[in-house]
Amino acid sequence: MDKGELLYEGKAKRVYSTSDPDLYVQEFKDDATAFNAKKKGEIVGKGVVNNKISSVLFQMLEKEGVPTHFEKLLSDRDMLIKKVEIVMLEVTVRNITAGGICRTIGVEEGVRLKEPVYEIHYKEDKLDDPLINEDHAKVLGLATDEEMAIIKDYALKINQLLKKFFEGLNIDLVDYKLEFGRYKDTIILADEISPDTCRFWEKGTGKKLDKDRFRQDLGDVEDAYQEMLSRITQES
Ligand code: TYD
Repeated sequence: MDKGELLYEGKAKRVYSTSDPDLYVQEFKDDATAFNAKKKGEIVGKGVVNNKISSVLFQMLEKEGVPTHFEKLLSDRDMLIKKVEIVMLEVTVRNITAGGICRTIGVEEGVRLKEPVYEIHYKEDKLDDPLINEDHAKVLGLATDEEMAIIKDYALKINQLLKKFFEGLNIDLVDYKLEFGRYKDTIILADEISPDTCRFWEKGTGKKLDKDRFRQDLGDVEDAYQEMLSRITQES
């Protein structure tokens, strides 16, 4: 499937049309941003790592009954995906406190949560993707009650599946962000699942193996991405 016209360029990916009106290609870039693009840089090889990791995880989730936009891995940086209408919500699930939740409710980093914490954020860069509730989402017309219920069910099911998967790699899945899309009257998982959109801590050492190394200038950023790819591809 050849890449057609460039339709959209985001912070970390480009989206192209294909000869099939129901399919797009998403191309993963090495560009890295943090703090709503106030910090910019490059993580060499990140696009290849994120494409391959997302492909493995989408296929694992599909096998376990979660529908996704994944069709096929096309090349190192290109993934064939179903064309969806993105729901303008960034859904996060947290198992251990880090990042936003520490600021919002004043807890320290690294507290293991007894139950996962589910959040929705309004996907709107101008507002810094604010944390909202389901009433806000309805007022904004972002999703129906029924869609939000489906999204929450999938997000929590995905948590069970991902937690188990990463346990096997000796990694704590701290938190992650998901995006969903509308496809032929259904809701399916879209976007990516990668060290850009998850927090991964090595069990025992607590070493961060995700974009926090870039956000917090911890060094060895490329190595951390490669380390996650090698653990994930050894597993699958
Ligand atoms: P969160 O702690 O809310 O945000 P921040 O990155 O500002 O600390 O993020 C929770 C997880 O979701 C974390 O792994 C990063 C990811 N995430 C994104 O990838 N993009 C986003 O827009 C948001 C809100 C979170």
